[in-house]
Amino acid sequence: MDSSQKTTSHNFLYIFWIILGFTFLGAGYLIWSQYQQIVFLHNQLILEQASTTEAILQLTTDKDVLTEKLNQTETILTETVDRLNAERDRNDDFEDQISQLAGTVGILDKVAKTDPELLQKYSKVYFLNENYIPANIKKISDKYILSNKGDQYFQGNALTFLTRMIDSAAKAGVDLKIISAYRSFETQSDLKGQYSQVYGTGANTFSADQGYSEHQLGTAVDLTDPTVAGTFLTFKDTEAYAWLQKNAYKYGFGLSYPEDNTFYIFEPWHWRFVGVDLATDLHRANASFYSWDQRKIDGYLVSLFD
Ligand code: DAL
Ligand code: ZN
Repeated sequence: MDSSQKTTSHNFLYIFWIILGFTFLGAGYLIWSQYQQIVFLHNQLILEQASTTEAILQLTTDKDVLTEKLNQTETILTETVDRLNAERDRNDDFEDQISQLAGTVGILDKVAKTDPELLQKYSKVYFLNENYIPANIKKISDKYILSNKGDQYFQGNALTFLTRMIDSAAKAGVDLKIISAYRSFETQSDLKGQYSQVYGTGANTFSADQGYSEHQLGTAVDLTDPTVAGTFLTFKDTEAYAWLQKNAYKYGFGLSYPEDNTFYIFEPWHWRFVGVDLATDLHRANASFYSWDQRKIDGYLVSLFD
């Protein structure tokens, strides 16, 4: 190798080392800058982590505060509902008391407006004041009265029950007619006088003295079937009497003087209005009005016209 060739070779070597040096420098710079980047990102991450942890802590605190507030609200709500329920219960109780009072007032009002005489016992032992005239006396329609018996009257509220009973009997093919209904103290006195003239003391077995007759109440009625008409005693053998025995209680009527009563002879024609409740209970017990205690009977006054 000549000297020029050697110089050229050395130049290449220099250039090579220079290039290699720059390459190392460039690579070193790159590695350094990457490292710086990593350090920067790492720091960023730590910062982010710290702020996230702080945010989580804040959220946890907020959650606890909210839960506490929610619990408080729930407690307040429960207490309010309890108070509301208690108030409603008090109102219900109050309403019950009011309606009970209204009911009691209604019953008292009904009793006050119902003539207590209408459920009193009379007959031979109990005297009805000679001035007693039932309130609300009404004339009975002629179609219900046996011919030639003239105008007849009945207690107004009870009259509805009487006509309904006679109408029902008619529908069942039973022809019931009224012989006698309301009789004033004077009318009873006249009637008893007439019977006494004919039968003497015997009249006492079937006719009440004035003041002792249920007819003066306006709620007693003598019924017959036109086939037997005024022959009172034979009425017991009629279909009409059988119908009454079976059905009269449904209209509030009962037989005052059944067989073997202590006041008069058996009077199958004489029926007294005592109200559906009492008549039904007497019928079920197979008892008569006069066999029950007056205090027990008085309990039915409130439902007399129901
Ligand atoms: N026939 C009954 C007893 C009266 O006269 O009232
Ligand atoms: Zn009678």
